[in-house]
Amino acid sequence: MNFKAIVFDAYGTLFDVNSAAEKCKHKIGDKWEAFANFWRTTQLEYTWLRSLMKRHKDFWQITEDSLDKSMNVFNIDKKMKNELLNLYKVLSPYPEVKEVLTELKKKNLKLAILSNGTPDLINELVSTNNLDAFDDLFSIEEVKIYKPDSRVYDLPVNKYKIQPKEVVFLSANTWDVSGGGNFGYNAVWVNRNNSHFDNLDYKPKKEIKNLKGLLEIL
Ligand code: LAC
Repeated sequence: MNFKAIVFDAYGTLFDVNSAAEKCKHKIGDKWEAFANFWRTTQLEYTWLRSLMKRHKDFWQITEDSLDKSMNVFNIDKKMKNELLNLYKVLSPYPEVKEVLTELKKKNLKLAILSNGTPDLINELVSTNNLDAFDDLFSIEEVKIYKPDSRVYDLPVNKYKIQPKEVVFLSANTWDVSGGGNFGYNAVWVNRNNSHFDNLDYKPKKEIKNLKGLLEIL
């Protein structure tokens, strides 16, 4: 296939969404992982619900709203709120990310992020982690509706004037793979946690354990 662009989801795919709570696990205790998963799930539910209700708030506000609920549910000391939010701005990338991007940069392909995150959030994640390989950082703030709305997946296709099938899209989020795949991307599932795929009218073109697997299929 003649691919023209490699497009990455950000949260969970390039950056470890659990790393904020993990860095506080000495204070949160054993429930840190359940809390981190609940925070992430609530955050995503809010993106879908706000899109359906047509009541947009940006991803940073949604991250804070979902954190407030999660801290209540898990009975976590409110004094930790700012610390958790600040850590969310500097999430760690997964260990293989830097090396894979360096390899991809040698190929004649556009490299981009397509994320629910605000432009400021994505810029900060990319710059604090010195990931300078990307040609573009696409944010849903351009269309003010969240994934999996097709207007989001349209952003790189419009900018690069290419066909959806010329895009390889990578996400660790099964629903995002289904969204991008139904749109027409070659969607690859980064199945980091050995989990199960969805029944949403699309099966991933490839399944890889981490982003290194991408180098073998290009
Ligand atoms: C994102 C979420 C879906 O970065 O992980 O868009």
